[in-house]
Amino acid sequence: MATRVIKNIGELTTNDPSLGVGVTGRLLDAAIVIDDEHVLWVGPNGEAPEADEMIDARDSAVIPGFVDSHTHLVFAGERSEEFEARMSGTPYDGGGIATTVASTRATSDVELRRATNERLVALRAGGVTTVEIKSGYALTVDGESRLLDIAGNISDEVTFLGAHVVPEEYATDRDGYVDLVCGPMLEACAPKSKWADVFCDRGAFDVDESRTVLSAARAAGLQLRVHGNQLGSTGGVALAVEMDAASVDHCTYLNDDDLERLCASKTVATLLPGADFSTRADCSSARRLLERGAVVALATDCNPGTSYVTSMGFVLAIAVRDMRMDFDEALWSATRGGAMALRRDDVGHLRVGARADVVILDAPRAAHLAYRAGSQLVRQVIVAQGPWSKTGWYGARGKIVDG
Ligand code: NIG
Ligand code: FE
Repeated sequence: MATRVIKNIGELTTNDPSLGVGVTGRLLDAAIVIDDEHVLWVGPNGEAPEADEMIDARDSAVIPGFVDSHTHLVFAGERSEEFEARMSGTPYDGGGIATTVASTRATSDVELRRATNERLVALRAGGVTTVEIKSGYALTVDGESRLLDIAGNISDEVTFLGAHVVPEEYATDRDGYVDLVCGPMLEACAPKSKWADVFCDRGAFDVDESRTVLSAARAAGLQLRVHGNQLGSTGGVALAVEMDAASVDHCTYLNDDDLERLCASKTVATLLPGADFSTRADCSSARRLLERGAVVALATDCNPGTSYVTSMGFVLAIAVRDMRMDFDEALWSATRGGAMALRRDDVGHLRVGARADVVILDAPRAAHLAYRAGSQLVRQVIVAQGPWSKTGWYGARGKIVDG
């Protein structure tokens, strides 16, 4: 297997405190050696061993690939009018999900794949090397199964979200829809998924319905994640902790009890700055979580309703400015935090043995990602061979995958 050394790294973020300074394990004037799959060596530039190929970082910053632990990448259509209305004061209530369900149902496999790939390429151009992808915009047995097939061609972090909302045709039979999700839909979708998620919130599923769905999913062998406390203190966080979900996502409304439960659990609090931006949500829970010692992840939540965002740089900028996270807290949360939200040890850091997912920036310090918000600062994305790399994609604007 060919080896590559990346030399002359101005600032290397390893996310291993034993390798460098602070929680991000920062090294200055560093080098890293990788093969097609793994990190082989990390250390001072002057001590770097020889390799088959040399990449000159030219004093730029290098970071682990972003781990985007929450996306709804497979959808059709757009909802910019809903966004405009929100910016003029209309609150988000999840009602627009039905619009995306209608367009997604009406779209061909070929077009859905093309649109999904386009968003995937955008994510990768911004440095994402691991992506979680949910279903949730079909809400029928065959439709959810189709979305999971498309997601499964791209990633092994695939999530069944049949319990996104109750579709219109079941409006007068909520129990019937929960039965469908827990029965035939789960049976068709579980073999195609690693995770199950539920939107446990106002206008979606209540705590009891969500518990029913999550319990059935767990019995079918899936691991759990929850959309919780986006629209109110509706019990999603407590349920996620009760069920040992890997992550509870949004966490916009957190009371002291929620905070206490989260901090005493293994459940990661995933914050979604793109959604907070696009729904004008309150961002204060980030500091409350961090000050209590909770593990926080940051993700794009890429979806056409609340967060049509494919840039982790943008996510970092909002996290730093509006959530008041320190830049290093935000960078850690978008890499190592995302990995923890997916219960992964092999990504989100650059220790020896990690997957060789490496991003070289066009900037001397990683903080430029937030400081120069809106600029394209990713020079090169290296993705380790493996489930993701069936795409063989190495450049910042490389070829589109043929999922
Ligand atoms: O994570 N809140 C639930 N699901 C998505 C939004 C879905 C939509 O509005 O289309 C989210 O924000
Ligand atoms: Fe979401």
